[in-house]
Amino acid sequence: MADSPLLPTPAPSDGRRWPDAQRPRFHFTAPSQWLNDPNGLCFHAGRYHLYYQHNPGAPKWGDIHWGHASSADLVHWQDEPIALRPSPGHDQGGCFSGSFALVDGVPTLYYTGYTAERQVQCAATSTDLQRWTKHPERTIVEPPPGVGSTDFRDPYVFRHDGCWYMAVGASMRSERGQVLLYRSADGVAWRYLHPLYTSPSLALGVLWECPNFFRLGDRWVLTVSVWPCLGVRYFVGRFDNEVFVPEREGELDVDGGAFAHLAMRAPDGRTLQWAWINEQREQDQIDAAGWAGAMSVPRELRLDPQGRLCARPVAELAALRRAPIAIESTGEQRGTLHRFAGRCLDIEATFTMRDRLRLGLTVLASPDGSESTRILFWPDARRLVIERSRSSINPKVRRQDVHSLLCLDEGEPLRLRVLLDASVLEVHANERVCLTTRVYPALASSVQASVFVDGDADVAIQAWAMGEICAGR
Ligand code: FRU
Repeated sequence: MADSPLLPTPAPSDGRRWPDAQRPRFHFTAPSQWLNDPNGLCFHAGRYHLYYQHNPGAPKWGDIHWGHASSADLVHWQDEPIALRPSPGHDQGGCFSGSFALVDGVPTLYYTGYTAERQVQCAATSTDLQRWTKHPERTIVEPPPGVGSTDFRDPYVFRHDGCWYMAVGASMRSERGQVLLYRSADGVAWRYLHPLYTSPSLALGVLWECPNFFRLGDRWVLTVSVWPCLGVRYFVGRFDNEVFVPEREGELDVDGGAFAHLAMRAPDGRTLQWAWINEQREQDQIDAAGWAGAMSVPRELRLDPQGRLCARPVAELAALRRAPIAIESTGEQRGTLHRFAGRCLDIEATFTMRDRLRLGLTVLASPDGSESTRILFWPDARRLVIERSRSSINPKVRRQDVHSLLCLDEGEPLRLRVLLDASVLEVHANERVCLTTRVYPALASSVQASVFVDGDADVAIQAWAMGEICAGR
């Protein structure tokens, strides 16, 4: 196959969609231009609603609106009209992140109004979830003492014990991350209570964004996005008498590969979570593509018996699987064991190891070896790694490795679920660790995949090509 460069691809001037080999098919993207955090997740009147931070004017952050899409099945998404736009007043600089609550039967969005001088917590209501009326009189204007007026954002509203509560991301004296707790009887007038939680460590950034606080099983989970972009932490604990006492903590996504996680309760009781996956290429590449940012697939959360937060892609995604991909065995015992091909794949691989040597998958490899991305488990180091150093010959993309600690129990197989979707790569290991990143191979022939085992292991593997989630765009 002749190799032709895939990027940049100029957009057609008539507004048609152009074939873009880096654009994901089964991860949600804005119809065009910029997307960041998931916002206002809910299930209402038979549909899931995904709002998101959106700049409709350019594929870069700025002039933030709330974009909107909805779905009946969690898999296929339909674009809806823009939900919130900046307007003169509290949010004239942007409508920042927030959440949805059904308050006395009234769909309500809580979000941060942004101006260069300050951030305030705002509310808007709707009857149809499409047209929203802002209520400037309900705005929480002043943060509590010790919190700067530009370090106060991302309200998450939840109901507990007959009251409404709001968790707001903040910074304590511009030094450490903090989540503030407010209470309201009616979801309209709010009273500040106290910090829900303050960062125990100066290593966890100076500000915590996008706090999310929800019950999971018999515990409460707090997730926070660490600013500057140092990843997403979770804390699991108890919430008694309006006080959160964490019992264990961990890392949700490393390195800012996925950020601003937000969860919702599905009608069947599952807790579903989305996160924003940023671009990792230079702005001129993004400008040429005309779109930026993707959502993770929805992930189902649970706590395992040890209290660790576990995530896996929702079962509904199987509806997008086409016929299983043919996987060719090489007949080898070591080295390359299996070969297949594709750029948009759902891969399940289980490795039963009999030694401590490295193993994993290679994806997006070109026949001449000039491009390839490896997903590797290194048992001695207890590291799961996405090796990106050779992921693209394009110098304008990030290529450093992404890795995380992965401790397997004695005899526990490595179970990888890999969602490869053009430039988006989500790697779930044993439901306990998720690495999310971007890879931008520049050669049309970089479609080869294979399994490698340096030592002695049994491998069971299946893979499916995946369909599109946004038909008719
Ligand atoms: C997180 C964040 C939020 C803010 C939003 C602005 O990515 O910085 O704190 O509300 O993005 O788009």
